[in-house]
Formats: sequence, C-alpha cells, structure tokens
Amino acid sequence: MNKSIEVQIFDYLSQHLSPKRFEHSYNVAMFAVELALKNNINLLKAQIAGLLHDCAKAMAGEELVAFFKGRKTFKCFKDIVKFAPHLLHSFAGEIIVKEEFKIRDKDILNAVRYHTLGRENMSVIEKIIFVADSVSHERKWKHASRVRNLSKNDLDKAFFEVLKTKIEYVINSGNWLCPQTIDTWNWYVSNYREKDN
Ligand SMILES: [Fe+2]
Ligand SMILES: [Fe+2]
Repeated sequence: MNKSIEVQIFDYLSQHLSPKRFEHSYNVAMFAVELALKNNINLLKAQIAGLLHDCAKAMAGEELVAFFKGRKTFKCFKDIVKFAPHLLHSFAGEIIVKEEFKIRDKDILNAVRYHTLGRENMSVIEKIIFVADSVSHERKWKHASRVRNLSKNDLDKAFFEVLKTKIEYVINSGNWLCPQTIDTWNWYVSNYREKDN
C-alpha cells in the first residue's frame, strides 16, 4: 500500500530534523490549520506547508550553498550566500518539497519559499505560514502570546507585528537585512496602512 502524503512527510521530517525542530514544524502546522479555518484557506494545504516549511532547516550554511550549486538561483542569492546563508533554507525547502514529495501546488510551494523573508503581494496562505512560524505554541519571544491571539482575529495585523519584530531583531543585532524583507515591509505598509488605522 502506498504511504499517504502525511506519513511520507512525518517519515522525512523525523529522519531529517531534530526532535525540537520536528515539534516546531508540527506546532506550525497545527496553528496554520487553525488560521486557515478562520481565513477560508484549504486546511490540507496549510497543514502540509506548515509541516514542510523547515524541511531544509537542518542543513548548515555550507550545505545549503552546495545544494544550490548547478541550480537556478534567484534575486539576492549572492548577498544571502555572503551575509546570511541560513536564509537559504526556505528556498531549498521549496525544492525539497517539489523533488522529494512531488508537490506541484503553487500555494504550498510559495508558502514554504517565502516563510522567512516574505515578498511583495503575499497570498493569504503565505501570510499564515509566515505568522504561524513565529507564533506557534512553543515560541516564547516577548510578544508571542499577544500576537498569537491577535492572529486569530486579524491575520494582517499579526503579520505586521511579526514582520516588524523580525526586522527590529535583525537591526538590533547589527546584522544584514535582506532587501527582500525590506520589499515585503514596504509592500505591506503601502497597502495596509490605511486599513490598519
Ligand atoms: Fe524557517
Ligand atoms: Fe520555522
């Protein structure tokens, strides 16, 4: 009997992720399903994207760079390799989702691809995974609980809080801020500012 997609995913994650990262992925998937239900998004897609979003997270920076050798890269790739190679895990994750699980669904692929940096014109499922990744139940950062509750009522406001917190963290730690995240911020602020006020 062929294994269901869920069993294939659990097998893969249990072999490739630490127990802590596995638990995080499970929690992100569970919370993504909750947010999907509230935002009329396909629950199975949210669950699969949540489970798989960090499927490449166990790869070290050099492994990630090697993974992309000979593959088509993307805008900002060189700068990411130079300044923050760990950010490649979301791009590598999308490729693993395609190649390992033969998933072709664009909603799932983009939710995995953009879960760390975001992008302009993010879809609802992309925002769900982006937010769920930061406020899943094991997350303990200062406002995690407040933003988790906020996300249940207003995904866009929670998205704003998560994105702002991520940017503040990078700036406060004196690290390189990826231009794609700046684009995400400017897109969000220019489109949703009026709605939020
Ligand atoms: Fe991640
Ligand atoms: Fe994550």
